[in-house]
Amino acid sequence: MKYVAVITGAASGIGRGMAERFAAEGMAVVLADIEEEPLAKLEADLRTKGATVLAVKTDVSNAADVENLAGQTLDAYGTVHILCNNAGVVCSRPIWEHTPADWEWVLGVNLWGVIHGIRAFVPRMLKQETKCHIVNTASILGLVRGPGEGIYKVSKHGVVALSETLADELAQKGSQIQVHVLCPGWVRTGILNSSRNRPDVELHHQSVTDSRNVRAEMEAGMSPAEVADHVYNAIQTDTFYIHTHPEHKAWIRARMEGILG
Ligand SMILES: NC(=O)c1ccc[n+]([C@@H]2O[C@H](COP(=O)([O-])OP(=O)(O)OC[C@H]3O[C@@H](n4cnc5c(N)ncnc54)[C@H](O)[C@@H]3O)[C@@H](O)[C@H]2O)c1
Repeated sequence: MKYVAVITGAASGIGRGMAERFAAEGMAVVLADIEEEPLAKLEADLRTKGATVLAVKTDVSNAADVENLAGQTLDAYGTVHILCNNAGVVCSRPIWEHTPADWEWVLGVNLWGVIHGIRAFVPRMLKQETKCHIVNTASILGLVRGPGEGIYKVSKHGVVALSETLADELAQKGSQIQVHVLCPGWVRTGILNSSRNRPDVELHHQSVTDSRNVRAEMEAGMSPAEVADHVYNAIQTDTFYIHTHPEHKAWIRARMEGILG
């Protein structure tokens, strides 16, 4: 039986890297993204390479869309082995200046997207009684503190807490679902242009794309293919915290020492 992997935010960046890697390993891949054109292009590219692919247009902030994604996956393949809750967006300005629409958009995609994924897929995975993996994409910013990207950090700390609780509760139940939380540093992707997918278009005026430093740091970042290697290895070794940038461990340690006093 083929392994079946579902990836949200699959049309670009890290999601695309994981989809390409899983397809290259012979898995069937279910690609979910809000952006139809790049989604269709990736589906066609992977199919040309001989992969088994299904693309499902999905807005992860919408519970019904994610439920439809789970239903279509099971209808097509009858099973699911890997779920990557990966879609994410960023929006940056001083935290007190963010509008309710900013909070709703970023938390809707980054945190509710993962919540909807868990609610739609975990009950189905539990019924299967087979080894499965859930990879939730957080960020190094889900493990540290500092100024900037306030809503994003709230969402990613939330994804880490959700993943830890999910892992511990599934272990307590003796389930075969292994949870992983992916915490990358900078990766060369399209995330600085996140507002391309924002529904309330008039609020696009300020974003991290305005900051040259941020763009330069991203351009010097890791490739999505390398991140996908880390994810694939973590799945093979049942590693929970996936650190792609070990140099950031000092930053995590500093936060922990600050907490302990
Ligand atoms: N790039 C980095 O440096 C970095 C670092 C740490 C964590 N991350 C995380 O990695 C994940 C992937 O981001 P990326 O860097 O590859 O960015 P990206 O913009 O290249 O890819 C994100 C994908 O998510 C999709 N998306 C956006 N809103 C969506 C929605 N509502 N429903 C479904 N899909 C949606 C986009 O269309 C896009 O294809 C995000 O969760 C991000 O927070 C990125």
